Amino acid sequence: MAHSLARTCLQEIAVTDAQRPRPRRHASAVIEGLGTWVPPRVVTNEELARRLDTSDQWVRTRTGITERRFADPGVSTMDLSTEAGARAIKSAGGGECDAVIVGTTTPDRMLPGTAPEVASRLGLPNVAAFDVQAVCTGFVYALANAAGLIAAGVAGRVLVIGADVLTPFINPEDRGTAVIFGDGAGAVVVRAGQPDEPGAVGPVDLGSDGENWALINVPAGGSRAPTARDNPPRDDFYLYMDGREVYRHAIPRMVASSQKVLDEAGWSVGDIDRFVGHQANARILDAVGDRLGIPADRRVMNLDRYGNTAAATIPLALADAGLSVNQRVLITAFGGGLTWGSTVFTWPDLTSA
Ligand code: UT7
Repeated sequence: MAHSLARTCLQEIAVTDAQRPRPRRHASAVIEGLGTWVPPRVVTNEELARRLDTSDQWVRTRTGITERRFADPGVSTMDLSTEAGARAIKSAGGGECDAVIVGTTTPDRMLPGTAPEVASRLGLPNVAAFDVQAVCTGFVYALANAAGLIAAGVAGRVLVIGADVLTPFINPEDRGTAVIFGDGAGAVVVRAGQPDEPGAVGPVDLGSDGENWALINVPAGGSRAPTARDNPPRDDFYLYMDGREVYRHAIPRMVASSQKVLDEAGWSVGDIDRFVGHQANARILDAVGDRLGIPADRRVMNLDRYGNTAAATIPLALADAGLSVNQRVLITAFGGGLTWGSTVFTWPDLTSA
């Protein structure tokens, strides 16, 4: 299913090396394409409330979520990443990339990473391709990595994807997580350019707090308890989240990280046209917006339709932000690790796909 869509999209891409900017040291990363993909299956709060001790009202008022998308069994992060990546390249006018980075917590397999297969399916053989594992901050970390490859002169054009298929890791009986998460993918293409161009990625802030790793984790499947042979309880293969504690950490971290990049960019809060925060909970986004002083009509929220898609929320929200050229955008994310990250940019002249 998913592959056929990517193929259709890819057929429209004129793969031409001529469009690719050459790597050069100290270049800025400039966004020039945006693409997204979510699985077609819509799962409403009502549907979940039929099998869980929850209600549409609880989920909407406590989180802001009304529905989310679930990938069909067998549809993976690589599938969604390929779709979103193909669309981002199309939005950027086609052409090749020197590197593919996938921010994800749900790779198709323990190893290898997801990015090499995505690159190969997109017709980008032999390019640098790797995953970044920073849970819900994955897209911001991946974008920072791309900016680093560009500034170091290693790559002239990079496909950056945030994608997660979390539903296989969600305990269907855990109402604390089952109503929160959905599946999705979003991607941008960044190229070497000038710092004053629309689309140029500005200062980046990244951080982590490993003391609190346990607040969001999947206990089994890693090197501590690799397989069912080691006898971890079945529930250890599911995602555990201490929602209340994560909530407590998320707000101050996102506020401080946002303030840091604004200060470094020399932007005041009043300069921000769109605030695109990680779509985990509308109450968190409002609290961060309130503390920063960003008016409600500049806060972008689409979690009502997608829920929390982990590494995919920021590019999915960018696509729904109604952005026009030269608008000033602040993105900030927070997630397991704990991890957080923010950056700012002006919006380029592009049509998302
Ligand atoms: O994306 C990575 C980062 N993740 C986040 O940022 C998530 C941050 N956390 C949250 O968004 C919120 O903590 C949740 C949405 C996960 C939970 O909302 P909350 O307002 O913090 O609820 P809570 O966990 O404090 O639970 C309040 C009550 C509890 O009942 P009691 O103990 O007060 O009787 C829960 O058992 O709500 C109950 N509850 C539910 N009730 C109906 C928890 N989940 C549900 C549910 N339906 N789905």
